[in-house]
Amino acid sequence: MTMVKLKDVYPLYLNNKAAQPNTDLMVTDKFTGEVAFRTALATPDVIDEAIAGAVRAAEPMAKLASYEKQGVLDHCVTRFRERFDELAYALCVEAGKPIKDSEGEVTRLIDTFRIAAEEATRNYGEVQPLDISERAKGYMGMWKRVPIGPCSFISPFNFPLNLAAHKIAPAIAMGCPFVMKPASLTPLGAIIMGEVLAECDVLPEGAFSILPASRDGADLFTTDERLKLLSFTGSPAVGWELKAKAGKKKVVLELGGNAAVIVDKDADLDHALERIVFGGYYQSGQSCIHVQRVIIHAAVYDRFRDMLGARVKTLVSGDPKQRDTFIGPMISEKEASRLKGWVDAAVAGGATLLAGGGCRGNMLDATLLENVSRESDLYREEAFGPAVILSKFTDWHEALDEVNDSKFGLQAGIFTRDLHQVLDAWDGLDVGGVVVNDVSSYRVDNMPYGGVKDSGLGREGVRFAMEDMSEIRNLVIRRI
Ligand code: SIN
Repeated sequence: MTMVKLKDVYPLYLNNKAAQPNTDLMVTDKFTGEVAFRTALATPDVIDEAIAGAVRAAEPMAKLASYEKQGVLDHCVTRFRERFDELAYALCVEAGKPIKDSEGEVTRLIDTFRIAAEEATRNYGEVQPLDISERAKGYMGMWKRVPIGPCSFISPFNFPLNLAAHKIAPAIAMGCPFVMKPASLTPLGAIIMGEVLAECDVLPEGAFSILPASRDGADLFTTDERLKLLSFTGSPAVGWELKAKAGKKKVVLELGGNAAVIVDKDADLDHALERIVFGGYYQSGQSCIHVQRVIIHAAVYDRFRDMLGARVKTLVSGDPKQRDTFIGPMISEKEASRLKGWVDAAVAGGATLLAGGGCRGNMLDATLLENVSRESDLYREEAFGPAVILSKFTDWHEALDEVNDSKFGLQAGIFTRDLHQVLDAWDGLDVGGVVVNDVSSYRVDNMPYGGVKDSGLGREGVRFAMEDMSEIRNLVIRRI
């Protein structure tokens, strides 16, 4: 990695242009706690101006040719490759994400824009025979997708680049202008994307605004009727509250989960171990599909528990800028102490601590427990941190029921060699996706991604997000 230095001050992007109305948002380095940089904070007036700009841009955006949209997305891919180290370092500082995970996220950011560049030229429709009965003889239909119009995006702190990209890139591919509020704790990734998009003269004025804003002053992102779609990624509590205030607009929610993984008796335990250590603890468990619950067959339970306990104790925690660090800080001391409280409560309720359990400031140890009560917060709620709990099963269908014993349903992982069990899981698990021989945390950026139950509404994954960002417009033709 080449040496990178962040600027002291960053702008917001209003109607495609950098603006510096103030420097009111202070962003800290999540490991040192020191101020890393400041950015402008958008007031409701600025957000209103951005929405008006997006409304004006809706028609010229919709008229952009596929190759022009592809050109914008290709430009982003090129610039993100050129600025790879800077993007990774910014992420490492503002999110406290270990540098190797930060580099992994920049790679995925590039993938997401690359996928969108391809999809920009694949906005297909369908010709449909309508002559299904006597009264429709001589009629035919065809439909195409048209952009839904101005979109509102709210992105989270845990993947400041790639989860913003999952909204921005499909919007450009579909031809929708947008206003985006990045997470106030980690706004820089989206601001750098704004800087790159501002280099694209083909985008009409108002095509995009990237507006860090305080939650109190950001109601317009949710309530303004000029916006036709709200796409929110973040906590379930906030997401469902926003949906209730969103009025007539379409709403897409990518929320949390307490994902489970099943390890069957015939699983390759060495492989399962490596993947569960990754899924349970990478970026300190701050992912909506982090492995929170591991359900292990009784025949291999003791052996696998001991393997996992021994391995978790070796994970290196510390400064995320060091290449050998696996566990960095959580996003805030408040979040770390919330989860530490859940771990302590589980232990007080009879759970056994197998590894970790300690907490200093926002550094929570990689923590592993067994015998956790199903009534505890650690079992029922979303941990969103480096804590994993183990349980035992003897019957596959009981294990599936245990995965489903959750108000959430985002993804699940199963380690088994039995095809029938795979198919039972695919049919029976109430989740958005089942991953076989890997963890719930596995995601490739072109696959449909999203949840059921409290985990959300709709799917991302570029092509699927483009569907949400469009309306079907039908054409009926009568031959006379
Ligand atoms: C999330 O935390 O929802 C996203 C996980 C991912 O994209 O890997």
